Amino acid sequence: MNPILVALDVDTADAAHALADQLRGAVGGFKIGKRLFTSYGPSIVERLVARGDRVFLDLKFHDIPNTVAGAVAAATRLGVWMVNVHASGGRAMMTAARDAADAEAAKLSRPAPLVIAVTVLTSLSEDAMVEVGVNGGIAAQVERLAALAQSAGLDGVVASPQEIGIIRARCGASFQVVTPGIRSASDDKGDQSRTLTAAQALSAGASYLVVGRPIIAAADPRAAAERIAAER
Ligand code: C5P
Repeated sequence: MNPILVALDVDTADAAHALADQLRGAVGGFKIGKRLFTSYGPSIVERLVARGDRVFLDLKFHDIPNTVAGAVAAATRLGVWMVNVHASGGRAMMTAARDAADAEAAKLSRPAPLVIAVTVLTSLSEDAMVEVGVNGGIAAQVERLAALAQSAGLDGVVASPQEIGIIRARCGASFQVVTPGIRSASDDKGDQSRTLTAAQALSAGASYLVVGRPIIAAADPRAAAERIAAER
């Protein structure tokens, strides 16, 4: 499939659906995050799913296992294609997420969503990690949490471009690596500091690319998506 997942980082449901209508068929799916979900709730997901879109529900669940299991089951009922949790919630929480996705999907006779984990937020610096008690460095923590997610039965992780290699080496070829921070050579990088082009990220081992502003802020979003897809 087309590996581009477009982050619908806009303020209104109307703007999100207008973008989806423009991009449908030119991209692999759409990412709905906390911003739209908090304003509009499940209806925004349901409407995309009803149109046949793959939806990555990026709510980064992190809670006790029973609560996360309930949330993942609810996401499965919504028909999302991918959902995520924080790996730092621990093995039991991730196993509960996996089991809930599988059990709910089986009940509904549909494929289970991909359940992936966030390892370390890329907004955290080495100093910020030390402040929360992680002293061994970000790279080691990313690798540890990716391996834990895999052993808890999750399908993959979200990883910044510079982490793809570490995770591929540790977790193997069939683990999904979902990578934001994608920019063309000519793009404005905005607040992303370490970026890769789509081609570089895929050849480094990314499975899916989360792309926001280079597509959604373009004058012609569909043309921008097609250009990025052609770069791979
Ligand atoms: O606009 P841009 O292409 O930078 O958007 C990237 C998307 O991926 C945004 O939705 C952003 O929140 C998300 N993201 C990220 N870096 C991470 C995790 C998620 O940029 N480490």
